[in-house]
Amino acid sequence: MYRNEIQEACAFIENKITLKPSIGLILGSGLGVLGDEIENPIIIPYKDIPHFPESTVTGHKGQLVIGNLEGKQVIAMQGRFHYYEGYTMQQVTFPVRVMKELGIESIIVTNAAGGINKGFNPGDLMLISDHINNMGDNPLLGPNDDRLGVRFPDMSQVYNRELVSLAESCANQLGLTVQKGVYVGNTGPIYETPAEIKMLRTLGGDAVGMSTVPEVIVAGHAGIRVLGISCISNMAAGILDQPLTHDEVMETTEKVRENFLQFVKKIIQTIS
Ligand code: 6GU
Repeated sequence: MYRNEIQEACAFIENKITLKPSIGLILGSGLGVLGDEIENPIIIPYKDIPHFPESTVTGHKGQLVIGNLEGKQVIAMQGRFHYYEGYTMQQVTFPVRVMKELGIESIIVTNAAGGINKGFNPGDLMLISDHINNMGDNPLLGPNDDRLGVRFPDMSQVYNRELVSLAESCANQLGLTVQKGVYVGNTGPIYETPAEIKMLRTLGGDAVGMSTVPEVIVAGHAGIRVLGISCISNMAAGILDQPLTHDEVMETTEKVRENFLQFVKKIIQTIS
């Protein structure tokens, strides 16, 4: 049943496009602007696509943009579905299944995240080397459809090492300093308490956010190569003596927008 829905959504999209995307992009809070750089774009609002949920958060557009970027055929999600909005894990990750069905081989998953690592600063970009699923849920719970992936997927290299080193060399070429670290996926919508952040640091987390982990689990299950990039929009609770606001998150992503755009474009140009 789930697979029929994937195929219906895929057929609907294929009907509107002529190219075949090889790279998927999930653009997080404030990072959707990259989608505006796609050439000859076909734009499809999520609400038009069969079985797609509809996105609700401000700062997220809620559409697919398909076209050319840096000489590659890409499909971008401008806005994603968050678990905290009340969607199930299956709904949150449905677009990843559809992008796989459309033929993508790699996916670049981006987000805004709070810095846990005291060596980080707001505005830093972080390559995700690994994650901790702290959401208490998982999109692969329930019966497994073997046509979509194996029952017990390996997650030891879900963040593709070649893509991480490719991204590091792109950063070098651009003269950009990027951090690397472990992303903790929390459900949100609350930001954490200082005690929770201290715990997450002890557990090995470098950054914390409310997304990405479900999509990456499904991409791994589906055999898609994953690159994850966090924009450290603010320091997490208890590091600086100031409250966290969504406005701050949006302001910082606005400031690093240009670096972020150049960085991801360079990666797309270089990816095979
Ligand atoms: Cl501090 N926490 C979480 N969970 N998500 C965030 C964040 C913090 N900053 C940006 N996104």
